[in-house]
Formats: sequence, C-alpha cells, structure tokens
Amino acid sequence: MMPVVARTRLGLAAARRGLSHPIVLVPTMGALHEGHRALLRRARDIATPDGSVVVSIFVNPLQFGAGEDLDRYPRTMPADVLACAEEGADLIFAPGQAEMYPRAPLVTVDPGPMGQMLEGESRPGHFAGVLTVVLKLFHLVRPDVAVFGEKDAQQLALIRRMAADLDAGLDITGVATARDPDGLAVSSRNKFLSGPERRTALLLPVALRAGRDAAHAGPAAVLKAAGEVLGVTTDPPLQLDYLALVDPDRFEPAGDELTGPALLLVAARIGTTRLIDNTPLSFAAQDAPPAAAAGTEDRREWHAADH
Ligand code: PAJ
Repeated sequence: MMPVVARTRLGLAAARRGLSHPIVLVPTMGALHEGHRALLRRARDIATPDGSVVVSIFVNPLQFGAGEDLDRYPRTMPADVLACAEEGADLIFAPGQAEMYPRAPLVTVDPGPMGQMLEGESRPGHFAGVLTVVLKLFHLVRPDVAVFGEKDAQQLALIRRMAADLDAGLDITGVATARDPDGLAVSSRNKFLSGPERRTALLLPVALRAGRDAAHAGPAAVLKAAGEVLGVTTDPPLQLDYLALVDPDRFEPAGDELTGPALLLVAARIGTTRLIDNTPLSFAAQDAPPAAAAGTEDRREWHAADH
C-alpha cells in the first residue's frame, strides 16, 4: 500500500484522525537510505500491524549553519515515498518550509550544556535547530513513540533528555547504526565522497573498532588506540574535528575512573564532506588499569586544532 502524503498541517491533522495507535514517528530529512530503513522497520515492529507508522521528511533550515550544506542536501522525494511504501509506512508528513515555519521562530528549544559540546561546538546553533523542529513534530504528529538512530548519538541523547525534561509524553527508541559491508556508517553525505576519499573515510570505523578493542585496558587506552588510527597519513587526508570518550547520558568527558557504558565519538572532514560516527563500549570495574599504566593524558577530548 502506498502511504498517504500530507504536505500541510491541515492534511496531517485530517490523516491523523484515521490512524490507529500506537502511532510511531520516524523524523527524517529525506534522501532515505538503509539507515533510515532500519528505523522504519523498527517503527513498523513497534507499531505492530494494528498501529501506525508516520515518517516526516523535512530538510530543516534551522539546524544548518551558514556555509553548511543546506543547499546541496539531497532531495529525492519520489524514491523516498517508494522506500516508505516498501517498509510499510502509513503516512508521510512532508511540509514545505513556509508550512513548517510560517514565520521565523522567536522562541526555540535551548539544548543546555550538552548541546554546546562536540557537535554543538563544531556546529553552533545546530542542536537548538534540531530540538526545535523535533518538538514541533512531536506536537503536530502527537506520536506514542518516536524512533531515532544511534548514528547521531548526541542528537539522540539530547532528544531523550528533552522528552524527559519537557514532559513530551512519548517514548524514545534508539536503533543501532546501519553500516555498509566495509564498515562505513550509512549516510546521505557518503555520496559526495570520491573513491579515494571513501578509503580515507574508512579510518573512522577502523579507529572506533580499535578503540573498542582496547576497552579492557581503560579509557586512556581507548583514546590512544583510536587516535593512532586517525593519525595515519592518507591521500586525501582526514581532518579530525574531534575524538572523544563520553558518558552516554550527559556527554561529559569520561575520566579514567569511568566504569559501565561509554561512547567513543569521532567527527572528521574528508575533502568538503563532514562525517560523524560513534561506537558504544563498556568499562568493567575490574578492568580499570593502574594509574601509571593509563599514562599521564588527563584530557578526554582531542580537538584537531590542538594537533
Ligand atoms: P536524518 O539525517 O535524515 O536522519 C534521520 C534519522 O535517521 C536520525 O534519527 C538518524 O540518527 C538516523 N540515521 C541516519 N543514518 C543512520 C544509520 N546509518 N544508522 C541508523 N540510523 C541512522 O537526523 C536528522 O535527519 C535530523 O536531525 C532530524 C532528527 C530529522 C531533525 O531535523
């Protein structure tokens, strides 16, 4: 069955009246790929055959900074509708910019300190834009559950926190990162990579794996192992934005005493394309190394500018 496509708030409200619960929302910016499809399949699973899957497709100008890739962001609506149909979505909400923002918003969501670091530091204003549009989508669609990818780990953590702190009244589900067979995280930006650039980009998943494999030796060893991979000379080169090890709830830099779950995050530019990736990992208490073996490095975040 082809999903209903609503382009306006009125159209969405009318279509929503025909939906049965649970209503599961998958917010996207379109150009749907295997990563989005993994989210759609999970949404279909959660909704059960009786519930409803709603996909939003909206390239949100509020979350793009000046000089970012808003203009070259791929728009592939006909293929997106087919992908949504194949994955069993019931309704697509694809508003134009004027429909979503009839006037420039004066009031936006403040992502707090967790929105200022890492991606927030590299992309000022980005998370205020993301949280504002996501909260608007929550209000317009009023879903029971919303599904997001772990690929954008800081975004997911902020959305979870916003939903809890602002009583959004829905459940947030995270889905593991979909990867190509060579390990590169699927992204709509991958199509901008030339063959040699893609080879360089593979340093990201290789570094994350090296970091994860070193988890038994503690946080400092994780950063060292991943940093060594990212430091390899390649043509074209990789320009590291950040490599960071954080606790998954507050995104605070992980100290050497951290036990339990953590996230290793990386962002880098290859040519004109900026990629992000991450891996979850875990530190067992008994595996914490003695202080001497952990080295003297006490910062848990490396910025390209420092190197
Ligand atoms: P977009 O980049 O289109 O991503 C939509 C959703 O797909 C996000 O939850 C993202 O984490 C997830 N996703 C992307 N690549 C993935 C992959 N390889 N594996 C698993 N999930 C993946 O993220 C956004 O749009 C926007 O910021 C949005 C939340 C829609 C707000 O505008």
